Amino acid sequence: MESAISIYGERKEEMEAVMLALAQDVRDAAAAVKAATGANPVEHLKYRIKSEESMREKCRRQGLPETPESALQVIRDAIGLRVICPFLDDVYAIRDHLLSHAQVELVAEKDYIRSVKPNGYRSLHLIVKKNGCFAEVQLRTISMDTWAALEHQIRYKKGLADSALIFEELKRCADELASTDVSMQIIRSTIQEKDG
Ligand code: GTP
Ligand code: MG
Repeated sequence: MESAISIYGERKEEMEAVMLALAQDVRDAAAAVKAATGANPVEHLKYRIKSEESMREKCRRQGLPETPESALQVIRDAIGLRVICPFLDDVYAIRDHLLSHAQVELVAEKDYIRSVKPNGYRSLHLIVKKNGCFAEVQLRTISMDTWAALEHQIRYKKGLADSALIFEELKRCADELASTDVSMQIIRSTIQEKDG
């Protein structure tokens, strides 16, 4: 009924500006890492502002009033960036560069690469604050992104993903991909040592 009024109040433009600034921070971090190592650490970068509908749904799910205060201060992923990196080391190189060089404050960090979720989900999540806005930056390898995308798609087919067998098989796939990430990282590190 109130849906003509944005849950983000008057702050949508400000959020868009912050999102674009963060995207530029990521590109700058990627350029700096590339200058140092010779290899591009970012495969691709995506960003979005959570849709009105998803944000309202998330407020309801969390028992929060559907207000700008909930959407911008309590929930902190209205702005979301996803950084897909070729190699494991790249994830941490981008993280470190972003936090030490950009005008970005780290608010919270969840390292689901080192502390893997029970279902096998892996990613490094940063909640950051820039120019007064919160944002969630998810950093992951191509393999982790592949798994997350497929698992997300499967999870939408309700009932199926609830079965213990499916859960175990998805976990096994996640672990196999993670093991490949480690092998690929070792291969690259070995080549770089030989070159250097
Ligand atoms: P949210 O209420 O979803 O924000 O959960 P949270 O505050 O506990 O944050 P968490 O860091 O666990 O997850 C935030 C985001 O990470 C989600 O919105 C997804 O984009 C992603 N994510 C987390 N867990 C999974 C998972 O098991 N599978 C997939 N595909 N994505 C996940
Ligand atoms: Mg979240």
